[in-house]
Amino acid sequence: MSYRVAVVGATGNVGREMLAILEELNFPVSEMHAVASRRSKGVEVAFGDRTLRCEDLEQFDFSKVDIVLMSAGGAVSKEWSEKIGKAGPIVIDNSSAFRMDPDVPLIVPEVNPDAVKDARKKNIIANPNCSTAQLVVALKPLHDAAKITRAVVATYQSVSGAGKEGMDELWNQTKAIYGLGDATPKKFPKQIAFNVIPFIGAFRDDGYTDEEAKMWVETHKMLDPSIRLTVTCVRVPVFVGHSEAVTLEFDRPIEPEEARELLRDAPGVLVVDKQEADGYVTPVEAAGEFAVYVSRIRKDPTVPNGLSMWVVSDNLRKGAALNAVQIAQLLDEQGVIQPQSGYRTLTV
Ligand SMILES: NC(=O)c1ccc[n+]([C@@H]2O[C@H](COP(=O)([O-])OP(=O)(O)OC[C@H]3O[C@@H](n4cnc5c(N)ncnc54)[C@H](OP(=O)(O)O)[C@@H]3O)[C@@H](O)[C@H]2O)c1
Repeated sequence: MSYRVAVVGATGNVGREMLAILEELNFPVSEMHAVASRRSKGVEVAFGDRTLRCEDLEQFDFSKVDIVLMSAGGAVSKEWSEKIGKAGPIVIDNSSAFRMDPDVPLIVPEVNPDAVKDARKKNIIANPNCSTAQLVVALKPLHDAAKITRAVVATYQSVSGAGKEGMDELWNQTKAIYGLGDATPKKFPKQIAFNVIPFIGAFRDDGYTDEEAKMWVETHKMLDPSIRLTVTCVRVPVFVGHSEAVTLEFDRPIEPEEARELLRDAPGVLVVDKQEADGYVTPVEAAGEFAVYVSRIRKDPTVPNGLSMWVVSDNLRKGAALNAVQIAQLLDEQGVIQPQSGYRTLTV
């Protein structure tokens, strides 16, 4: 039994990663379609050892596929995802357009797989923001053992979180600064090469950015609305891999060793935490990997039940493409979706 799948945004950072991961995880695909804008019609993208030619979103007949992995930005999702859902397939949407819609489940499979039962309400499932995805994977096993009451998070987000243009800007600016070329910021509001920028997205009235607010509203929807979060999102000159410095307060004492044990047993998490000069994970090591890495677990002695830790993951993978493919696997495992072209084995 296998599915007809379309990846929309197939020429993008996340879309290419989706194609790679569908192949790596051996997701059962009978037909694969790469879809992007009209500009990319005919452009070749790799799917395993095959080459796919991109099709134009405006011309594509979505009624002929079972699953659509949507990763072409918020504006495209707002215009297309509901229309595509109405045509039959389930849309796994990577943008922020539907994450807070009460009729759209927002899912990280390690955290709230049961939410998949609502997938048919609009035929859309939302994928969380990249920084939230890795955070909740690390928080969930701890929260199950001792309630997290408050979290203070600072992110160190790579430029690939801002798409192909973000990566190009870091590359071109780095070369320009060394070669005395033009380093004028275009994609980011200030120079990103050899710098850090404490601003992602747009300002809200309360002084936070919308990127920061996404982290608490999405954590509330998926994990627990009673966790109080305060967040500072920072863009750093790293190509791939988001890092987070996380400080947690619990409703009971929790020792670092207990937290390490809980995280070691948790799905999707790898603990790398030796108190040695290189005994932790950095984004360079996390890039291209599936796991959410947790390092530097230690007591926060400034509050009664506090722990601090360092959380790193590949933002294009767990933060986007991997999570989307895991949702597709969940749909298959839970029998929410059945290939329109195939059939299920009858059990009597
Ligand atoms: N990067 C991350 O870490 C991350 C994490 C979570 C979620 N996301 C979300 O994933 C989405 C894509 O991100 P990305 O990093 O892959 O961006 P990207 O590298 O800039 O790629 C954008 C993709 O969208 C396509 N596209 C743009 N306008 C289109 C249109 N009008 N019609 C059809 N296709 C169109 C582009 O096709 P063309 O090449 O034809 O223009 C390209 O394939 C965004 O919604 C982003 O917020 C990204």
